[in-house]
Formats: sequence, structure tokens, C-alpha cells
Amino acid sequence: RMPILEQCYNLMDFEAVARNVMKKTAWAYYSSGADDEITMRENHSAFHKIWFRPRILVDVEKIDFTTTMLGTKCDIPFYVTATALGKLGHHEGEVLLTRAAKKHNVVQMIPTLASCSFDEIMDAAEGDQVQWMQLYVNKDREITKKIVQHAEKRGCKGLFITVDAPQLGRREKDMRSKFTDTGSNVQAGSQTDNSQGAARAISSFIDPSLSWKDIPWFQSITKMPIILKGVQRVEDVIRAIEVGVQGVVLSNHGGRQLDFARSGIEVLAEVMPVLRERGWENRIEIFVDGGVRRATDIIKALCLGAKGVGIGRPFLYSMSAYGQPGVDRAMQLLKDEMEMGMRLIGCSSIDQLNPTLVDTRGLSMH
Ligand code: FNR
Repeated sequence: RMPILEQCYNLMDFEAVARNVMKKTAWAYYSSGADDEITMRENHSAFHKIWFRPRILVDVEKIDFTTTMLGTKCDIPFYVTATALGKLGHHEGEVLLTRAAKKHNVVQMIPTLASCSFDEIMDAAEGDQVQWMQLYVNKDREITKKIVQHAEKRGCKGLFITVDAPQLGRREKDMRSKFTDTGSNVQAGSQTDNSQGAARAISSFIDPSLSWKDIPWFQSITKMPIILKGVQRVEDVIRAIEVGVQGVVLSNHGGRQLDFARSGIEVLAEVMPVLRERGWENRIEIFVDGGVRRATDIIKALCLGAKGVGIGRPFLYSMSAYGQPGVDRAMQLLKDEMEMGMRLIGCSSIDQLNPTLVDTRGLSMH
């Protein structure tokens, strides 16, 4: 029997419910990782290798964890990251996430492969609600240019170019479940082959020749901040700063691309000391995603120097199991956890979070 919503006390609880109530193909698509899913599991467990060094006797009566990401003020330092095919889990799809994001004043990143059309998702936003766009780059650059310029014209405030997916990873769970209806906006250049699972069926338009040489072209066609999503080593963060993009997401695509890619939080621990040594830590905004399930995970990432974190599957699971009230509750649980976490480590605002508050000796790099 399905537990009532109030019986979900944390983000993992939604996953357990979703596994039981979702359609098999949808569960397979959302939950799968690449190959042996080692990276997918590591994303979550990497956070378990970091411990807190809380401060005591700090006035934590009032806690303020509002923050700014790419110039946008948010209630809490996470955003709803781009996840394709929202209608697999719920008939309303991504617009449901738009409404939940509005309610909690967090940013939503709109996926190229959304089930709802881009305009439907933009139209679902209210007032000054901010949305970003995730871009898979089409081999046909005219199509890409149209998509990007349309997004800017519609008021998107950030362009996240996915750079970790020149070819879609093998998600075998997804491939095994026979996939028939993508319900997504398949782009020109796609040959749909359903025998390879949902992901591969809709992604053959993606350009594997995309390279650093293309970045100036993106900078020439849009004024939106450009963020590279899927950076996995410090050398590439430095290069991103040198080419003048505004941000990077340290991410392995939720463990769905290269298995044995390191977790974003591990990469963050590699990146920040190098940037600080060069005095470059304020030249770029660094985001992390993958395996964030607790507010303490968010706090750890911010202590290490991230500006914010992306969260994917938990909102898909809460949406699929309970609709919008589910996503609302998931976000509220994170806010409640955040208030307590900040208080217990002895910080009353985001600017107080710093590396001395975490012990990272358990991470493999240290
Ligand atoms: C994704 N992700 C993703 N990323 C992207 O750039 N474009 C996309 O279309 C998708 N689609 C997608 C679908 C599903 C079902 C998942 C689970 C993930 C990756 C996503 O943006 C993010 O990197 C991870 O989801 C973060 O990990 P968690 O929070 O899901 O553990």
C-alpha cells in the first residue's frame, strides 16, 4: 500500500515509493545509470566521506540561507536541474516542476528534451520567476542558434551547455525496458531507434564534434551567461575561466554517462584549492550536482566553495509518486533540514560557510 505523503520524511523516501508505483519504463529511465552504475552510487556515497567541524556558541537564533546564483536571488542554494522526459513520470510533466519551483523560489533548468514544449514551460512561470535552459547542441547549428536565441528572447537567464554527453551512455536498465512513446520534442537529425531505450531513442541529433572552438560562437549569438554542465577536472575549469564562460557544473550527469567518473563533490575538492591559489575563486560560479539528497550535502558543497547545487531525481520521484504536493514537500523538507543543519554547524548565513567547517580527509584525493 502506498504511504501517504506525510509519511515521506526525506528525499530517499520518495524514491522508495516511486519505485513501487511508477510505470516500469519510466522507473527504468529515471533511475538508471551507465554501465555498472558505480558512479551513480558514488555520487551519493561521496558525501558520506565528508564530516563536519561545527562551531559552537554562535548566535544561530535567526538563520538566513537565501543566496544568489548567476545574479538570481533564491530561497535556498539548490536548483531543479534539467531532466528529460517529465511526462514519463507525471502527465503534466515539467510545468509541474515550474510551479513547485515558483512556490519555493528556486530556479528551474529547462531541458532540451523536455516532454512539454519550451514555450509551455516558460509560460508556466509566474511573475519574475527565473528559468535557465539546458542545451544539447544539434549538429545543425542553425537549429541550435534558433533555440538559443528564442530562449534568450523568452527571458531565460542562463545557458547550460551539456558537455559530458557527446554520446549517450549505456543505461542498460533503460535499454531492457522496451520503450515506445517518447512524448518529447524530437529534433531534426534524430533517427529514433526504440530498441536502445528512451534516452538513445531521442538523442541522435547531439553533435559529438562539439569542442572548445565552438564556445566563442555561443558567446557571439547570446548575451545569456554561459555555463558548461558536466566538467570533471580542474584543468577544464581553468580553461573555462580562460575562455570567459560564467560558470561550470561539476557533474557526471547523475552517473548516466561515463561510469567511473568521479563525483562532483570530489572534483570540487580538487578544483577549489587550485583556484584559490591563483586567486581565481571569484572569476566563475561553480555548481555541483549528483547524489544531493540532504541539506547537509548542500552545506558540504557550499563549504567547499560551490555557489549552489543541482538536484534531479528526487524531484522526478516526488512528482511521479505524488504530483505537485510531492515536489512541494520534497522542497520543504530540504528547507527544514537546511535550517537545522546551518544551526547545528554554527552558521547563520551562507557567507559564513567555509572550508574549515568540513573535514575532507576521507575523500580519496586528500
Ligand atoms: C538527467 N540529466 C540530464 N542532464 C542534461 O544535461 N540533459 C538532460 O536531458 C538530462 N536528462 C536527465 C534525465 C534523467 C532521468 C536524469 C536522472 C538525469 C542529468 C541531470 O541534469 C543531473 O546532472 C543529475 O540528475 C544529477 O544527479 P541526481 O540529483 O539525479 O542524483
